[in-house]
Amino acid sequence: MHALRAFFEGRGGVGQGVLARAYERRDGTLWCEGVPLEAIAASAGTPAYVYSSQAMRERYRALDAALTGVAHRIHYSLKANSSHGLLKVLRAEGCRADVVSGGELMRALRAGFAPDDIIFGGVGKRRDEIRAALEAGVLLINVESAAELEIVETEAKALGVHARIAFRVNPEVQVANAHEFIATGSRGHKFGIPWGDVPAVAMRALASPHVEVAGLDMHVGSQLLSLAPYRDGVARLAELARTLRAQGAPLRYFDAGGGLPARYDAEEAPDLALFAEIVVPVATSLGLELIVEPGRFVVAESGALLTRVLYRKMSGGTDFVVCDAGMSELLRPSHYDAYHAIEAVRPRGGTKTVDVVGPICETGDFIARDRLMDDVAAGDLLAVHTAGAYGYVMALTYNTRPRAPEVLVDGSRWAVITRRETLDDLVRLEAASLDWTEA
Ligand code: LLP
Repeated sequence: MHALRAFFEGRGGVGQGVLARAYERRDGTLWCEGVPLEAIAASAGTPAYVYSSQAMRERYRALDAALTGVAHRIHYSLKANSSHGLLKVLRAEGCRADVVSGGELMRALRAGFAPDDIIFGGVGKRRDEIRAALEAGVLLINVESAAELEIVETEAKALGVHARIAFRVNPEVQVANAHEFIATGSRGHKFGIPWGDVPAVAMRALASPHVEVAGLDMHVGSQLLSLAPYRDGVARLAELARTLRAQGAPLRYFDAGGGLPARYDAEEAPDLALFAEIVVPVATSLGLELIVEPGRFVVAESGALLTRVLYRKMSGGTDFVVCDAGMSELLRPSHYDAYHAIEAVRPRGGTKTVDVVGPICETGDFIARDRLMDDVAAGDLLAVHTAGAYGYVMALTYNTRPRAPEVLVDGSRWAVITRRETLDDLVRLEAASLDWTEA
């Protein structure tokens, strides 16, 4: 509880103007901007995801302001949260898009992002996805291997278009962050072209009339609480940029990736001025336009997962709070051992050390373990914080439980941007009778 309070009292970050108080207690109950969470739960039901538009806008604007020293483009990484309603908010701010699949490309276009405001990355792009990106005319395809380059080239040739590409490079730097699963830029990771291989791959691309080597890209990891990997990574990337230029590459873009952190517990907000000090001079000295691909930083803190307590239960000395949301709604605690602050929307007083678990038939189905938090009873509403990124997008329908709705708050208004999935939605793709094919 104390960590949470520190979190909302904006310790360390308010001075930077990036910490909107999206969730505040008024008259004993929790509000998102100008809307009481109890009103949303009463109407939309639980579990439900809630997002503050203002919190997203402020983060986008703060990052944009921090990078004013250089020509730059902020490509929001759709993988963090790709809901149409949320994309519209970011698009209206002037944000651009970073996509990693044909599906995300479709979502970005549908939300009104211009093709040349979209970059397409990802370690395992299929040929049809590459074709779709070329047909759409995206700004850049971030190529991750020599084999992928070959497919991009063949498809560009077949379509009679020019493929603008960047090389996603593995800068092979040390990345120490919250969990090994979200570090990506160290030697041996599956992502990016190994640093030492880039000049040879570039040579191949530079020889092709169908491909234009327009940029260099890295993404060293997510939730980077230390900015050191950026410093190391951009230095390595800059070295490569010089090599590639000497090879004749008409570079225009320098992409430092995503990875700026969100506050889950008592972390400090990222020092955007320091981030800018690291990336801006490098892009400036190379005369390249800076690209960043933030996901989590923009949307994580805007979101809360609302869940209702179903039961209290003691078992073998553990005090369980059984809720109507669990790993199927928010996989992060179970998958990354991630911490999400939890508080009662209307605290009844007192605290308890509990395990907050969901209804899924898995012992790994929990939102928090051994957590000192508000004492709660069946029927109480809980807010699970910092759930705007990698929450809904990673939701499962395991145990045939429909996905929760998503609600967007803007000032004193709110709207359901994704309706609750129905049981019919869940079985819609299943054949009612079998249409066999003889082999
Ligand atoms: N660019 C690339 C190439 C990426 O792979 C990612 C995230 C981003 C940008 C955005 O990173 P961000 O700014 O959000 O850190 N599901 C995990 C996080 C996986 C991140 C994957 N890549 C989690 O819940 O922590």
